Amino acid sequence: MASATPIAFAILFVFFFFSFLFAFPSASSSSLEVETVARESLPMDGDVAWVVQVSDLHLSAYHPDRAADLVRLLTPALRAIRPSLLLITGDITDAKNKRRTSTRQDISEWIQYKSSVEAIVNHSGIEKRRIFDTRGNHDKYGVPHVGHELDFFSVYSVSSQLGRLSTIQSISLVIL
Ligand SMILES: *[C@@H]1O[C@H](CO)[C@@H](O)[C@H](O)[C@H]1NC(C)=O
Repeated sequence: MASATPIAFAILFVFFFFSFLFAFPSASSSSLEVETVARESLPMDGDVAWVVQVSDLHLSAYHPDRAADLVRLLTPALRAIRPSLLLITGDITDAKNKRRTSTRQDISEWIQYKSSVEAIVNHSGIEKRRIFDTRGNHDKYGVPHVGHELDFFSVYSVSSQLGRLSTIQSISLVIL
């Protein structure tokens, strides 16, 4: 029997004080400000909340097999698990040169990411609004600040495509 459950997710986006977010390793934790900036509710199917998290994809201009593997492995997994949420946590991209001796953003890695997510959404049945992604440190290499032209997360991430704040640093799940 399919029954609509009254349980729903509230997703609280919490972000940290800007100077901390964009990467000063020496920033003291006293500069940390936590603030709830948005909430979203998502209906749940049944009483169990399945959450799938994939992390550290390190999509690379030099290893296109990583994006291909992501689509190949995750699509059937999502089709079987039908999770309420898919969390994609950084590092999304590798952001290294070929010999891995230096770091920089590479737009082709972000384009790979966007089209991989699109293929996964197209073929797994997951709704895009159930996907939440966050940056890792590699996704910030060489990015002076949020919104800079090298801040590709602000353009290619699911979070930014859906108009969520692109300074999301953590997500809290609350069953209401
Ligand atoms: C996903 O589906 C949309 C809409 O049908 C289509 O425009 C897009 O090219 C597809 N993308 C991929 C990567 O399959």
